[in-house]
Amino acid sequence: MPAWIARAELTLPDRAGTMPRAMRLLRLSINGDEHRLAAPDHWTLLEVLRYALGLTGSKQGCDKGDCGACTVLVDGEPVLACLLLAGEAEGRAITTIEGLAPAHRRAGGDGADPLQEAFDACGALQCGFCQPGMILSAKALLARTPFPTLEEVHAALGGNLCRCTGYTQILQAVMKVAHEGAGLEAPRPCWATARDEEAR
Ligand code: FES
Ligand code: FES
Repeated sequence: MPAWIARAELTLPDRAGTMPRAMRLLRLSINGDEHRLAAPDHWTLLEVLRYALGLTGSKQGCDKGDCGACTVLVDGEPVLACLLLAGEAEGRAITTIEGLAPAHRRAGGDGADPLQEAFDACGALQCGFCQPGMILSAKALLARTPFPTLEEVHAALGGNLCRCTGYTQILQAVMKVAHEGAGLEAPRPCWATARDEEAR
């Protein structure tokens, strides 16, 4: 543990409203920015993101590791933020959905990240609750396997549950980005592409 980290007992009540709770000073690298903050010692990374930093793109679905809605990238790998203590994320590069578009633009791109654009173009969302986690899991997949098979996409998104879409458009959106990255047309046009073709 870095020497500057300290623990302190506050007189604030805990969630039950009675006992003092231990606080921890944290230093987190999130979307390229360094954050120093104090948070309850037992808070998960998801709680710190949402309730201390206001980064609410990471969703709190089941809060027990079942749904994938809280997925963020830690050192480029998908991690369930609801299962990771915030203190364990120190010294690691955390990426949330809020960081994708700025990173894309810093790299010289326009607009949002290509995966975000593809999810939009393919209509790969309804309520959108699963979408940040889906996109970040897909981001990690495409970083290590730029041109995955459909089975590899299925496997990479296997921990991200969606109650709304039936997954078809989500898979098409990921395949769209993979094909476009390889200079190819996606084999099964997504909804928007089909609509555009009809309009021609
Ligand atoms: S909120 Fe983390 S897996 Fe469901
Ligand atoms: S769009 Fe609603 S859970 Fe996926």
